Amino acid sequence: MTIKNVGVIGCGLMGSGIAQVAAQAGFPVTVVEANDELAKRGLDRLRETFEALRVKGKLDAKAKDALLARIAGTSRLEELKGCELVVEAMTENQQLKNETFAKLGRIAPPHAILATNTSSCNVTAMAAASKRPGQVLGLHFFNPVPLMKLVEVARTILTDEGVVTTATEWVRTVGKTPVQTKDSTAFIVNRLLVPYLLDAVRLYESGLAALEDIDTAMKLGCGYPMGPFTLLDLVGLDTTMYVAEVMFEEFREPRYAPPPLLKRMVMAGRLGRKTGRGFYTYNA
Ligand code: 3HC
Repeated sequence: MTIKNVGVIGCGLMGSGIAQVAAQAGFPVTVVEANDELAKRGLDRLRETFEALRVKGKLDAKAKDALLARIAGTSRLEELKGCELVVEAMTENQQLKNETFAKLGRIAPPHAILATNTSSCNVTAMAAASKRPGQVLGLHFFNPVPLMKLVEVARTILTDEGVVTTATEWVRTVGKTPVQTKDSTAFIVNRLLVPYLLDAVRLYESGLAALEDIDTAMKLGCGYPMGPFTLLDLVGLDTTMYVAEVMFEEFREPRYAPPPLLKRMVMAGRLGRKTGRGFYTYNA
């Protein structure tokens, strides 16, 4: 099966990045959002990104227009009926995802691959809901999607081998490096990354050091591109807390439990860059 048309559900931080890399690799992309207003906002976000790249001299005006012409926005899931690959990138909500996969199972072409960009939800549950579990798998991109090279390809015990092969090849076609993993909460990266981020919060809570010093220590002492608090602000404190809660629920290990400070910051609306304030403060 050849992938010609790509659908992306959700056009937030992750969905818009996935739409961008697919369009840049030459695929016509249909982006679906919950309503027309959000679909328009998603397309505006992509337009702004391409304009910034044009201003930087990384895209000429013609290439920018061609990219935008390749991306359509809609609020109707039915418009994915011509897509050989659909990547779901909605918020992390198992029930919502299951419902969406049930609809996709009725709408998408019979041969379509149905992927989820989830970082913590149960892919097998989505596969079962779709009523065509052999065609469902995880394709987990990283933030910021256009810059991060990795995609975790997560198969369930029900995924057809051919689907894994085709999806893995598509990941390479859009310029990313695939790694194979099983459908298990948080896959490889978040299984290792999330406890590290939570430990950083606990360390700060304990009063051991200032957050700037913890960030500098990990950046310069370990060669990480960002310290843990800069990364938490990038990923979103709400996203990290949600992933941690799902991991704690699944594995019942205290190291996955979100620390009190993280919970309180989320309650206070300090979610990171996207709200202008997390551990650090950002200008608009
Ligand atoms: N499309 C294409 N290019 C873009 C772009 C876009 N949307 N946005 C920025 N760029 C370009 C910039 O123009 C810039 O180009 P230039 O070098 O020619 O000027 C280039 O990309 C680099 O931009 P920055 O200067 O902002 O990048 P940095 O060198 O500071 O690196 C970083 C940024 C790649 C984010 C790096 O700091 C990093 O790797 N940080 C760690 C990120 C990380 O760990 N992510 C994983 C999070 S976990 C996750 O996502 C899982 C989830 O499930 C929670």
